[in-house]
Amino acid sequence: MLDTGLKILVVASEVAPFAKTGGLADVAGSLPKALAVQGNDVRVVLPRYRRIGDYATVTDFPVEVGQRKETCIVRRSRIEAKSSRGTKEVPVYFVDNYHYFDRDRLYGYEDDAERFAFFNLSILPLCEELGFRPDVVHLNDWQSGFIPLLIRIRGRHSALWNETASVFTIHNLRYQGRFPKVTLGLLGLGEEYFTPGGVEFYGDVSFMKAGLLFADVINTVSETYAREIQTPEFGEGLDGVLRKRGSDLYGIVNGINYHEYDPSSDPRLFKTYDSRNLGAKVDNKLALQRELGLSLSHEPLVGMVSRLVDQKGLDVLLEAMPEILSRPLQFVLLGSGDERYEEAFRSLARSHPGKVSVTTGFNGILAQRIYAGSDMFLMPSRFEPCGLGQLIAMRYGSIPVARRTGGIADTVSEYDVSTGTGTGFLFDRYEAEDLVAALDRALDKYRDRSTWNHIVKQAMETDFSWNKSAAMYTEVYMEALSRRGRVERPA
Ligand code: GLC
Repeated sequence: MLDTGLKILVVASEVAPFAKTGGLADVAGSLPKALAVQGNDVRVVLPRYRRIGDYATVTDFPVEVGQRKETCIVRRSRIEAKSSRGTKEVPVYFVDNYHYFDRDRLYGYEDDAERFAFFNLSILPLCEELGFRPDVVHLNDWQSGFIPLLIRIRGRHSALWNETASVFTIHNLRYQGRFPKVTLGLLGLGEEYFTPGGVEFYGDVSFMKAGLLFADVINTVSETYAREIQTPEFGEGLDGVLRKRGSDLYGIVNGINYHEYDPSSDPRLFKTYDSRNLGAKVDNKLALQRELGLSLSHEPLVGMVSRLVDQKGLDVLLEAMPEILSRPLQFVLLGSGDERYEEAFRSLARSHPGKVSVTTGFNGILAQRIYAGSDMFLMPSRFEPCGLGQLIAMRYGSIPVARRTGGIADTVSEYDVSTGTGTGFLFDRYEAEDLVAALDRALDKYRDRSTWNHIVKQAMETDFSWNKSAAMYTEVYMEALSRRGRVERPA
């Protein structure tokens, strides 16, 4: 049964291209394709928010959320996984309910606990209704955190669910889904789970903690972050739980979709290019300068595409900005998030016309043009579970100037003059002067064309596709199945 591939259900609260606020959506949209190409039967499920179209209804069934009787309407679409061996289809199911999800935003409502309790409660009956019996249910972040426990509870009376393995992936430990105790009742769970060894967290209920405790195997999106979160500095109050599960905790670095992110065919660029034709990359830079109203110049262009939140190191960057802007360079930012950061950067753009460009909001086309048109890519993250920006940047030949933390430490290596190896410029301490020093090292190398082109080629030719990481997920799924007694594993 298992050597013909696994039946995998991937559950996430956002999946590109349907709904996205951050990197989770990219991963939940691209990992399933890679798993399908590798021969597995993969399906994806997410809530149907208002922004998602009215896809065909498949079925509906009642779900009890505490005392409330609600209906889960299941809709269906698909994503296509293209590879050299042809195209595979990944079915995508939407959990729809007008009361909970017909809203503009994905999160940030008063009743988020109830909304995602409903989502969690809908997943097992959805599988039963569809007759899809997954070997592995793969959960992502707090919004699906209670599903491993719901599987275990159902498994007490059902041999099928008792054999179903669960894998829980932490994309970002900072967002935990912490809600008042009454949430337990909404989930149909009794007091017995409300203990410090259970899902209680400082007097509240934590979806994240539930996922960490009850999944067969847990992982996060880089090896370094997997180590970091077991310390108080990065553990967000859950480092104790994570240390306890340390032997079940894996780090698997994210990949990016090499068909979607390919400078040699990307239709969003002014001109396509590859590592043997870097001249066309310069054309992208000039076109970007024109599009954004910057002066046309061969000075290094420093780009940044980021959510504008605390995690991304914006306070250190703002502190370093006067120093950075005293250098001969241009700075381009695209991002959205906290109003105070948006305003601080907009004001820098106003006071440095022709040199600084700031665009707030989402713009997928501009994002790609920044990756292609910039020479360097800034990522001063305070912490970074994996980070996708640096991977896309390297694929497009934009050299990361970044903080050595989490996934950045695992995917970017410092350029070493003596060996000629390396793909970026890194700093360790979360300090403005260290950020500026790393940038200065990059600027220094930039002056020497042949060295710089060598670094760019090296970055562009490093493999950040899903191939390796998807295979590692399959390994982790097998490990989870062995916990359910489904496969034998060597000790
Ligand atoms: C979150 C993390 C980011 C990671 C992404 C996908 O957005 O902040 O580091 O790359 O999830 O796993």
